[in-house]
Amino acid sequence: MPQKIFISYARKDGRDLALRLKTDLEKHSFDAWLDTSEIDGGASWSKEIEINIDSCDVLLALISTGSYDSEICRGEHLRALRKRRRVIPILVQANADRPIYLEHLNYCDMSHSAHYNDNLNKLIQDIQTGGAVQPYERYTPFHVPNKPPNYIERPEELQQLIQSIMRDSDQNRSTVLTALRGMGGIGKSVLSIAICHDEVIRDAFPDGIFWLQIGRETPNVLEKMKLVGTELGDSPEH
Ligand SMILES: Nc1ncnc2c1ncn2[C@@H]1O[C@H](COP(=O)(O)OP(=O)(O)O)[C@@H](O)[C@H]1O
Ligand SMILES: [Mg+2]
Repeated sequence: MPQKIFISYARKDGRDLALRLKTDLEKHSFDAWLDTSEIDGGASWSKEIEINIDSCDVLLALISTGSYDSEICRGEHLRALRKRRRVIPILVQANADRPIYLEHLNYCDMSHSAHYNDNLNKLIQDIQTGGAVQPYERYTPFHVPNKPPNYIERPEELQQLIQSIMRDSDQNRSTVLTALRGMGGIGKSVLSIAICHDEVIRDAFPDGIFWLQIGRETPNVLEKMKLVGTELGDSPEH
């Protein structure tokens, strides 16, 4: 059986190398997969991505400026680590920021195209020889209410919401704001709670998830900010 390889990359600046690697790995009879579906010139999260991560032997994490900003790339890396897949980080740009959760791994620098063939051979060797998979443990602040005891799944709405949150486009979006709209009692808050508990979302936002209820009846917003600050390591006096 050929080894299955998942190539994780950012559309913005990792595509050329990703496609080149796929072609070359297939020449060496690996089964390489990458997501080429696009919405508005960008990527979105799909069930197909989940299935292909869960069934891969090795995930190649192409590290670039674009992947550092991408919830999708982060979600792919952390899902692979959580599922105990082997992750090999590959530098697209020599000076790209390296995500903290990949710091302990050996990097393969493919930023110089002049050395591409040498590095490709090293990479293939590395994939074939295998290596121990280190479990990745992390502390993630998570302050979200539970789903109601009689919670009914709404898979379509949930998937739609995941896709609107996890979307990479060409524009630089450092913050994503998503609002739910609908008549009172229709299930907006419960759906929001459910998405916070979703494993894809939790992987994509490893720094933590906070649920803050703020409205006309909120007497003291500062108290809520304090909760977030303290959980993230600030002292309460500050
Ligand atoms: N998916 C669901 N499963 C079970 N109960 C739900 C679900 N969605 C909503 N409810 C019930 O309906 C009530 C109102 O939903 P809520 O999400 O608070 O509405 P909204 O925020 O749109 O006003 C909840 O308190 C819960 O009892
Ligand atoms: Mg509500």
